[in-house]
Amino acid sequence: MADNASHGTISSAPFGRTPVGVAVERYTLRNRNGLEARIATYGGIVTRLTAPDRKGQYADVVLGYDTLEGYLKSSPYFGALIGRYGNRIAKGRFTLNGRKYTLAINDAPNTLHGGTVGFDKVVWKATQSVVTPNGPQLTLTYLSRDGEEGYPGNLNVTAVYSLTDDNSLRLDYTATTDKDTVVNLTQHSYFNLRGRSDILAHVVQINADRFTPIDSTLIPTGELRPVAGTPFDFRKPTAIGARLDANTDASDEQIRFGKGYDHNWVINKPVGALTVAATVYEPDSGRVLEVSSAEPGLQFYSGNFLDGSLTGKGGQVYALRNGFCLEPQHFPDSPNHPGFPPVVLKPGQTYKNTIIYRFSAR
Ligand code: GLA
Repeated sequence: MADNASHGTISSAPFGRTPVGVAVERYTLRNRNGLEARIATYGGIVTRLTAPDRKGQYADVVLGYDTLEGYLKSSPYFGALIGRYGNRIAKGRFTLNGRKYTLAINDAPNTLHGGTVGFDKVVWKATQSVVTPNGPQLTLTYLSRDGEEGYPGNLNVTAVYSLTDDNSLRLDYTATTDKDTVVNLTQHSYFNLRGRSDILAHVVQINADRFTPIDSTLIPTGELRPVAGTPFDFRKPTAIGARLDANTDASDEQIRFGKGYDHNWVINKPVGALTVAATVYEPDSGRVLEVSSAEPGLQFYSGNFLDGSLTGKGGQVYALRNGFCLEPQHFPDSPNHPGFPPVVLKPGQTYKNTIIYRFSAR
């Protein structure tokens, strides 16, 4: 165990084996304030993340399982690293440099989150675990081979998780390729700042004047639509449930298509600037989550596919809308939308993406 009283600790323990016998480790990171994150080398999954409420009481604020078996059996991407292409690519097809690529249709009729075996289902290599002056840090790497899941180019990915002194879980991605390819990496933690039950009372603010409306298969139409006057206007802090239940059945087509919120917001900021994309406040506990990134988009998913069929940590049944995701990323289906910010990575370039989840209470 690396130990440094003022900057936290990091340690590891076996977390089981995959069906083909690969050993999986789970790292425990603790910052100097007592915030704790547990990260498995399988999928780079954040299996536990604690945050203090307004009285200083810590609770686990992410959904997931107690054991590796849970994640292996059935997981809607709980806590995982997502790639090579986060979110959907229409009909699993795109063209790059005049060549057509075909991907697995794992979310009919589209491909979702990298395909059948995305980065969430591979064992990453833990290449470094250290305590830095700003807190404990875990480095995970993965080589996605040329042709894996249908994508071109050997993609070398590094994901560095840090638990910093200001109560942030920070993720710094870098990636390089040896052939032109498309890349869109993100993080898929499901949060519940109260630690249990539905998330409808959580108050969300999203720094976006526009969002990308979708068709009935959740693929963006290409339009950047103003949020003004729609249930997608989170410019002022608004409860997730405020415009959801009333609209899910009929009146708003976008809410109907998503079965709730499952859309990409166009973050207001200059390209490449690291800014706060969204803030979430949970009134009961006082916990606040601030999500920062330099990505042009933010997928806000209100846990619409959770239906009570999964039983997670401590026997908790995950019912409809018991967790939400805020996934900083490029826009879904960008390879098929020349008007969207580009997602092509070329040899010699370095892909970079920083995602910061910062916790506080008020
Ligand atoms: C993403 C997608 C959702 C859903 C979840 C996982 O957030 O946008 O539609 O597939 O992942 O269930």
